[in-house]
Amino acid sequence: MTAKLIKGTEIREQILEEIASEVLELKEKHGIVPGLVTILVGENPASMSYVTLKIKTATRLGFKEIQDSQPEDIAEEDLLNLIDKYNNDDSIDGILVQLPLPKHIDEKKVLNAIDPDKDVDGFHPINVGRLMIGGDAVKFAPCTPAGIQEMIIRAGVETSGAEVVVVGRSNIVGKPIANMMFQKAEGANSTVTVVHTRTKDLAAHCKRADILIVAAGVPGLVEPAWIKPGACVIDVGVNRVGEKISEKTGKKIAILRGDVDFDAAKEIAGSITPVPGGVGPMTITMLMKNTLKSMKFKLGII
Ligand code: GUN
Repeated sequence: MTAKLIKGTEIREQILEEIASEVLELKEKHGIVPGLVTILVGENPASMSYVTLKIKTATRLGFKEIQDSQPEDIAEEDLLNLIDKYNNDDSIDGILVQLPLPKHIDEKKVLNAIDPDKDVDGFHPINVGRLMIGGDAVKFAPCTPAGIQEMIIRAGVETSGAEVVVVGRSNIVGKPIANMMFQKAEGANSTVTVVHTRTKDLAAHCKRADILIVAAGVPGLVEPAWIKPGACVIDVGVNRVGEKISEKTGKKIAILRGDVDFDAAKEIAGSITPVPGGVGPMTITMLMKNTLKSMKFKLGII
């Protein structure tokens, strides 16, 4: 093993401690705590476990937390009305509608209905635009890209002038992280290339990367020969490749594999995120940070 492991689990603990102490301080000064509502439609098992973890984390931080579970067959109009209720609730700073939504509901319509100033997921077109402008315009960066940037900063990786290659062009990860890394900002100022399924020579691009961010959703896509020696490798892939029995709980759990061949890549990279325990834990952490930020905007202190 030559690469330094960038552990999301450890960075998460540092950030959550920072948030918890800020929440306490603001509660004493202003008498309020951040409010987060998580709307879950239906009973998708993966969504239910994400939501449970979000609630647990928010509760640990002393947030006001509402879990609003709705039946799978909720009418789109009723869901839009529910969002409107929370848009108008001053004790709520963040509204999160867990995705994916059932097929009869227009996801775009739902995301667009969330007040952009409570859109702690950063998915509303107004927040996407703010992110593109950069600097003071940014209100909420989407949570996974924000987590990636935070990991790169806290791992002490130089980004200024670095060649960043992003594999994948999704709205949730690829597009926003590419945008964030070339901004004139801390943890950015990089030269960014985005590669995708139609790119002609994926390997050639990856080999140039000082920082390789992989969010393709293809297990083991990135081969060790594609990694520049000493590069920072951020693996966003969380692919379920099978099941096993947990030694801790005796229950069936998913076997997860990243988009990078970790065992071989760690002998070449300078630093690398594992799967699981890398980028994954950062998403909920940044959701909490965005919710606190939203309350600070409301108080007019940022
Ligand atoms: N489903 C999977 N990831 C996410 C996320 O980051 N936000 C929301 N709202 N739904 C998700």
